Amino acid sequence: MKRVWIEDLGNFVGEEVEIRGWLFNKRSAGKVRFLIVRDGTGFLQVVMVKSDLPPEVFNLYDEVTYEDAVVVRGVVRKDKRAPGGYELQMTDLKIHSKVLETYPIPKVRPENIPDIGKLFKFRHLWIRSRKQWATLRIRDEVERAIQDFFASRKFVRFDPPIFTPSSVEGTTTLFPVPYFEEGEVYLTQSGQLYLEAGAMALGKVYSFGPTFRAEKSRTRRHLTEFWMVEPEVAWATLEDIMELAEDLVVYIVERVLENRRTELEILNRDISKLEAVKKPFPRITYDEAVRILMEEKEKGRDIDFRYGEDFGSDEETVISERYDRPVMITHYPRTIKPFYMKPDPDDPTKVLCVDVIAPEGYGEIIGGSQREDDYEALLRRIREENLPEEEYSWYLDLRKYGSVPHSGFGLGVERTVAWLAGASHVREVIPFARTPDRVRP
Ligand code: 4AD
Ligand code: MG
Repeated sequence: MKRVWIEDLGNFVGEEVEIRGWLFNKRSAGKVRFLIVRDGTGFLQVVMVKSDLPPEVFNLYDEVTYEDAVVVRGVVRKDKRAPGGYELQMTDLKIHSKVLETYPIPKVRPENIPDIGKLFKFRHLWIRSRKQWATLRIRDEVERAIQDFFASRKFVRFDPPIFTPSSVEGTTTLFPVPYFEEGEVYLTQSGQLYLEAGAMALGKVYSFGPTFRAEKSRTRRHLTEFWMVEPEVAWATLEDIMELAEDLVVYIVERVLENRRTELEILNRDISKLEAVKKPFPRITYDEAVRILMEEKEKGRDIDFRYGEDFGSDEETVISERYDRPVMITHYPRTIKPFYMKPDPDDPTKVLCVDVIAPEGYGEIIGGSQREDDYEALLRRIREENLPEEEYSWYLDLRKYGSVPHSGFGLGVERTVAWLAGASHVREVIPFARTPDRVRP
């Protein structure tokens, strides 16, 4: 007997096959009974007809319970009404292992249960449910799309270290780690500084890995451990990487629409909103974004914002409401951005940077900039920020030995997936989220 995965059933119509999985649900309609079996690759309706089955097999219906491991045999039938398009006409059923206790997550719409904390306590089991399954498959597609995108443009993958002695995005969000005679090092906030070295060696590079921020922000958008993809390109200007960012986001959206439609439907995602994500993205400056906020304030919206501040999630949401696709905001005040950004030669109070804000209130998904490439100017900024100069001497070397303009950005994977999947919180789009109050399971 051929043992097959549910996602491949389409190749076996009319054949008898074996599926190995778990009982997801069951229901009875008199002489016909239905099992919903999941095997990780999909969910399958299995039909038990009393007259087709030996009584001891048919009676297993009463015994089998949620999340028992089961081995099912049956004939594959095409059925438009069945979820997934196919169903299995059962010929045999074996319970491989029974649950030892009642499954702790109720089968009926676990996502609607108000006690989300309880679900996260059982995250190792919760990921078996339909919506979590769909979300994690969308994440997988996003991650694969990212790698395909950069490979097709001949970027070299360049893996920066995770233990680092210095900060990139400010010293207040560093996670210290004891490190032998060194005393303390930190978990990386971003591989950017190392990627800049990589770009000078390999031209176009990108990294893709976990990054860490000791941010006590308890928002829908913050994790302490999250995944970032960071391209860095030699000779590129702000304009160049804005175009790269735009192409990347459009490509990711296209791929999810192409390969994860079923999953979007399971999540009740409004697909038309994603279909609107096309080039070109609107581009506005920080000053223009502030004007939008002031206009909305005059219309009576509750906005507490002063010129010169960074946008918080409320402000980002108000700005993004004007657009049906991501908006790119450039030229933020120098004082609210990191030391490595290059000031705008036309207005040195601003920097050559871009934040990409997702629609529908999902906030900043990308932060990027042109880097300061002048040795003296960079040294001055490191001193102004009171950063330990000796830790940055290697980074300054990049400006000493053949310095060139260069730019890059970081795209947050969880923010992007949360937006595409329509998730209410980034912690639902990573297998095991890390937040200030959660490091288990
Ligand atoms: O804007 P950020 O801080 O930029 C950098 O780290 C640059 N060094 C990247 C670069 O130019 N190479 O972070 C980039 C993105 C944000 O836009 C956001 O999507 C995500 O990373 N991000 C977070 N995601 C989840 N939780 C957090 N605490 C995040 N902080 C940033
Ligand atoms: Mg940012």
